[in-house]
Amino acid sequence: MSAHTPQVRLNSGTTIPQLGFGVFKVEPSDTQRVVEQALAAGYRHIDTATGYNNEREVGAALRASGIPRDEIFLTTKLRNDHHRDGDVAAAFERSLEALGVDFLDLYLIHWPLPASDRYITTWRTFEGFFRDGRAKAIGVSNFLVEHLTRLLDETEVVPAVNQVELHPIFQQRELRAFHERAGIVTEAWGPLGQSKYDLFTLAPIQAAAGAHGVTPAQVVLRWHLQTGNVVIPKTTSPERMAQNIDLFGFELTDSEMRAIDELDENRRVGGDPSQVN
Ligand SMILES: NC(=O)c1ccc[n+]([C@@H]2O[C@H](COP(=O)([O-])OP(=O)(O)OC[C@H]3O[C@@H](n4cnc5c(N)ncnc54)[C@H](OP(=O)(O)O)[C@@H]3O)[C@@H](O)[C@H]2O)c1
Repeated sequence: MSAHTPQVRLNSGTTIPQLGFGVFKVEPSDTQRVVEQALAAGYRHIDTATGYNNEREVGAALRASGIPRDEIFLTTKLRNDHHRDGDVAAAFERSLEALGVDFLDLYLIHWPLPASDRYITTWRTFEGFFRDGRAKAIGVSNFLVEHLTRLLDETEVVPAVNQVELHPIFQQRELRAFHERAGIVTEAWGPLGQSKYDLFTLAPIQAAAGAHGVTPAQVVLRWHLQTGNVVIPKTTSPERMAQNIDLFGFELTDSEMRAIDELDENRRVGGDPSQVN
């Protein structure tokens, strides 16, 4: 199934599978099983974070799968307290050690934490990981236009990715346009809305699901792919893992895409990056 997943080119020169698998809120005791099942289902892109407390178990699953390291795209993120305290180089090495790998495909600053005003300094340390090859790409997460603007003005390497909350109720149009101009790939977290509102009963999503004989979740994920987002849905259920990667046998029509575009309420369900500190 993974053969169908498109690859998106990053400004680092590498590529990222457009569909990946997220492990936020997957208990450490479940993580090895869940990631092994995701790999068996065909996912080749895993998104974790030091803050998820499951890097070690993700690494164990990668090794147990027997899949060569270079066939898996692996992302992790700098934890906020390590960012705030300037513990960046050591935190990166601890992540490599926990995951049991000698390079990352993507390393992200998890949140900008504007009150501590360290993201420029942190980014300069990230540039070193990119230059020495231990991070094939570096990026950011939860950065607003104002944070990206400053980063582009004051540092050298343009982030390859900005991973942000994005789903049909919160479509991030202004930020996506900024990314497009700057050559930054948009990656959607909470792509299914984190089950925090009832996305799956909305009429345009239900109608498209009925028309194509798929589930509302598949419609939402297909909307992301056709919008151009990299998307990393999370589930602990093998049935949903299979469903969430089975997106390449149908295509939303232009009018179905427009109807979902019109659901945008510009409403977050997660934290506001200007307030998370
Ligand atoms: N950078 C950041 O700050 C940040 C923040 C949040 C998330 N993330 C990343 O983004 C990934 C995805 O976001 P998320 O996990 O927060 O939310 P999400 O993927 O939008 O939603 C996950 C929820 O949807 C349910 N679900 C999954 N597939 C489904 C399906 N086919 N039908 C019905 N329900 C389904 C899951 O339940 P079950 O597990 O019970 O199936 C879970 O409750 C995370 O795992 C993480 O890697 C990053």
